[in-house]
Amino acid sequence: EKGGYDTFMEKEIHEQPHAVADTLLGRTKDDGELVLDELRISEERLRDIDRITVVACGTAAYAGTVAKYAIEHWTRIPVEVSLAHEFRYCDPIVDERTLVVSISQSGETMDTLMAVKHATELGALTLSICNTHGSTIPRESDAVLYTHAGPEIAVASTKAFLAQITACYVLGLYLAQLRGETYADDAKSVMTELRDMPDKVEELLGRMDRVVEMARFMADSRAILFLGRNVGFPVALEGALKLKELAYIHAEGFAAGELKHGPIALIEPGQPVFVVVPGPDTPHELHKKVVSNIQEIRARGARTIVIAHDGDEDVVPFASEVIRIPQCSPMLAPLLAVVPLQVFALHLASAKGLDVDQPRNLAKSVTVE
Ligand code: F6R
Repeated sequence: EKGGYDTFMEKEIHEQPHAVADTLLGRTKDDGELVLDELRISEERLRDIDRITVVACGTAAYAGTVAKYAIEHWTRIPVEVSLAHEFRYCDPIVDERTLVVSISQSGETMDTLMAVKHATELGALTLSICNTHGSTIPRESDAVLYTHAGPEIAVASTKAFLAQITACYVLGLYLAQLRGETYADDAKSVMTELRDMPDKVEELLGRMDRVVEMARFMADSRAILFLGRNVGFPVALEGALKLKELAYIHAEGFAAGELKHGPIALIEPGQPVFVVVPGPDTPHELHKKVVSNIQEIRARGARTIVIAHDGDEDVVPFASEVIRIPQCSPMLAPLLAVVPLQVFALHLASAKGLDVDQPRNLAKSVTVE
């Protein structure tokens, strides 16, 4: 049942190219135009949306944060991401023109369900991005966009995360398409590129030997930090979460720009820091800025483990290790950059002799508030 792998988590990490491909399947025409009749919401109603609020917990909320950057960029609709348990009790500003998008692998997370019910009471349009057919959250929502990752057994979420991000891209690009010409051309070209992502994830999975080796010799680490910027920020948060959950190591993710506002005080000789580097063509010189962050922490003795695109040579002088990911446009990079972080957490936890599929104190779906 584990398909030749030692753990469900490892199997599910390797199923990620399919999770992305299957989530795209049947939702586009050859020229990249999106078809989402399955939502059963009128185009007029969707065009009327003037605000999006994503509600989710844990890994699903990080997928939502990737969605915020992407959907705002593609559609210019303001997107807010709210942890579902906070949303429910913070007197949220939501009305009939708000689309509340919930993201949940299980479809049974009580915090997320309560947020959706509250959004409905407030008159919002609710859309569920969910991996489990017929589960409660999609049933309580006006519309559903299923992710097709297949059943996720390991407690720590991996393939569902990639599928959630993919579904969010599909939703964002569809809204861009509905909003007309200025947005639609861009949407089509991103969609075309999105269809190449499963092959790139597959290629990346074939390059993980060094990451596995690093995980083994870092098994005694006491704390590991993760930095990222823009869509790389939620990737850093997810890398830290995987390590906490699986390896019980103190791990924290930061927005790289925040470093000088405090966290840089944590840097001492030998401190491992993963840095998710934006692609060299990311707007606003973010690539250069993150490279200079790497230089700063390296100068203070950090062990810098840098996740960078193929061909990005600027990082090399300041990196203790470089993990290479295939080139892609900046917005799509989370689908690649998170993979080495998942593999790292998995193998570090195994090296410590821990139960990777069932970490202590955690349940696959949290059905209490
Ligand atoms: C992380 C993890 C949790 C879930 C969260 C939401 O590996 O598994 O953080 O992502 O509990 O669960 P769902 O997506 O089922 O609502």
